[in-house]
Amino acid sequence: MQSPYKDKEIAPLQNIEDWEEDLKVRYPKPKDEQAKAKGDYRNYHDSDRVDTVREFYRLNHKYQTYDFVVEKEKEFLTFQKREMPFWDAIDYLNTLVDDSDPDIDLDQLQHLLQTSEAIRADGHPDWFVLTGFIHDMGKVLCLFGEPQWAVVGDTFPVGCKHSEDIVYPEFFRDNPDAQDDRFNNKYGIYNHHCGLENVKMSWGHDEYLYQMVKDYLPEPALYMIRYHSFYAQHRENAYDHLLSDHDREMFRWVDKFNPYDLYSKVPVPPDAKALRPYYEDLVAKYLPPVLKF
Ligand SMILES: [Fe+2]
Ligand SMILES: [Fe+2]
Repeated sequence: MQSPYKDKEIAPLQNIEDWEEDLKVRYPKPKDEQAKAKGDYRNYHDSDRVDTVREFYRLNHKYQTYDFVVEKEKEFLTFQKREMPFWDAIDYLNTLVDDSDPDIDLDQLQHLLQTSEAIRADGHPDWFVLTGFIHDMGKVLCLFGEPQWAVVGDTFPVGCKHSEDIVYPEFFRDNPDAQDDRFNNKYGIYNHHCGLENVKMSWGHDEYLYQMVKDYLPEPALYMIRYHSFYAQHRENAYDHLLSDHDREMFRWVDKFNPYDLYSKVPVPPDAKALRPYYEDLVAKYLPPVLKF
């Protein structure tokens, strides 16, 4: 099937890591240390990346409609694209890095290991370590030819009004849902405190991986995976009116996870080869040997 998007709409970022780099500019400190500094975010000057990230969000906010999410769920959540042993999927994910880019010294495996090793160093349970290790595996979506803005980026509920607390809220004016009376009010198709299990999120690597592993990991792990890019909630509390008490309880885990994801870059990179036996055992303990994509 031919892509409905132009080439430049599929990959507005030079590297999909630019989105995470941008998050660190937006949220330079963990939640419990950060005074609100919203004004500062727009004022930073990092030339090209600002423009490409802005363009990335313009496309994300324009195209991530309720119907788009329904369509992607139909396409991907039957998991009939391919089967891969876990470690092949990790290798596959690593091909995402453009080696010719001298600024990017972290491959995907390094980001995963730095996250999981920081969690391990703090003495958390092994399923939490595993969560750190796999949390971005859904990015394999990129390798299936999906546009970057349908793989990474902040996620947000679809089917109700877009919060002003989502980054670049002005770009939602181009989203057809903003003109649709079913969706363009506070609750849209949802009810007060209906619970996030009833709320559709914009499509990306979080939801995809959650659906892939939901039968294998404890619930806090699943919340961390599913909502780790939902910054409008875990940083801004913009959708409190949709969360159930149980969601609120579980978001304590999402909050716990976020600093490991954003701030765990260490000066000496973990030795992937030496760590491999530990992670082989850990993966084997929880996940099936072959995953369906
Ligand atoms: Fe992620
Ligand atoms: Fe990550």
